[in-house]
Amino acid sequence: MTLYAHITGWGMSAPEKVLTNDDLAQMVDTNDEWIRDRTGIERRHIAAPEESSASLGAEAAIRALKVANLHPRDVDLIICSTSSPQHIFPATASVIQDRIGAINAGAFDLLAACTGFIFAMNMATQAIRGGAIRNAIVIGAETLSRLVDWNDRTTCILFGDGAGAFVLQGSDEPGGVISSVMRSDGSGGDLLCLPAGGSAMPATPQTIADGLHYIQMNGREVFRFATRVMANASREVVDRAGLQLEDIDLIIPHQANLRIIDAAARGLKLPMEKFIVNLQEYGNTSTASIPIATVEAAEAGRLRRDDKIVFVGFGGGLTWGAVTVIWTGPFPSAKPINFQQQRRLARIRSWLRRLVRFLEGLIWGRRG
Ligand SMILES: CC(C)(COP(=O)(O)OP(=O)(O)OC[C@H]1O[C@@H](n2cnc3c(N)ncnc32)[C@H](O)[C@@H]1OP(=O)(O)O)[C@@H](O)C(=O)NCCC(=O)NCCS
Repeated sequence: MTLYAHITGWGMSAPEKVLTNDDLAQMVDTNDEWIRDRTGIERRHIAAPEESSASLGAEAAIRALKVANLHPRDVDLIICSTSSPQHIFPATASVIQDRIGAINAGAFDLLAACTGFIFAMNMATQAIRGGAIRNAIVIGAETLSRLVDWNDRTTCILFGDGAGAFVLQGSDEPGGVISSVMRSDGSGGDLLCLPAGGSAMPATPQTIADGLHYIQMNGREVFRFATRVMANASREVVDRAGLQLEDIDLIIPHQANLRIIDAAARGLKLPMEKFIVNLQEYGNTSTASIPIATVEAAEAGRLRRDDKIVFVGFGGGLTWGAVTVIWTGPFPSAKPINFQQQRRLARIRSWLRRLVRFLEGLIWGRRG
């Protein structure tokens, strides 16, 4: 039986278009100094019209598969964590499954706001450890720019678009995800929410006129909540792993606000050097922020085999959670896979399947 779920691949994708604080100052009553001081954010990436949570997520997933050198047909499960899905349904994960040609995978979305990637990692880990699957892709993908009120200076300065993905693979070798914490407090759901567009408040001309399809947030309350739970969840997850905080080499936190990360560092009595921070470049990409920060840390050579890493997140719901990971890196594999070819094949396969469905419809339609 498979006992451990290792992170063997990682990938990210961010839109090319960048929106600086100075650009925002042209749009709302704000300025670069205020945004840097209060959040640490300098720029964020914004999706082009042809980009979406699925296109960014698929790109990140392919890159993660490349690092792992895992063939798309060997993926058993795709979990896409997102609060800005393509549609309410079908799941964004299904769109990604089709685009990357993961023909043997089950795919579903998970919504736990900015904590979603942590929850998704934990779900994939449990499926691997339970023996139900061997290989999973976990994706965090967001295009929050589509859900932000660009006239609301209290929210539009914070968020950005992007996607990140991990490949998780089972093995008997000890390591990988070794402990987890998952928590929610629905009593605080109204502190960070998107009121309309769901079944409680379907879209009407009035909901649109009232701006209820935009993110609404009580910044101060969320700030207070975040500083409390980041340190607590980190402490608890390290304890569950049977480790001490001093054993932890690196913390990769949700990238919402530099002051929140700083408060967590002080609460944990750990130096800021142990925290990966890249929110200055991307802003808060919600559930994508942890894998994006991980990819940049890996590319900067900050992740070494056997490093003990805590991933910790918080967000709407309210939700918060953490996992402790012993860093592995790619499993040894034989022949490099031609991913360009796999992408082309996935496109052709998808097109053929649509064509067959169309022709079947014609035949059945005529018979009917
Ligand atoms: C949003 C946030 C940056 C605001 O910072 P803050 O220090 O709490 O600021 P406040 O809300 O107390 O506002 C202070 C003043 O700045 C003003 N202000 C708010 N946004 C502003 C902006 N973009 N530019 C300039 N001034 C701004 C306010 O109107 C207020 O003015 P007032 O004192 O005249 O009323 C901060 O609360 C935060 O980061 N919260 C957590 C949000 C978060 O991370 N959400 C995602 C969770 S996953």
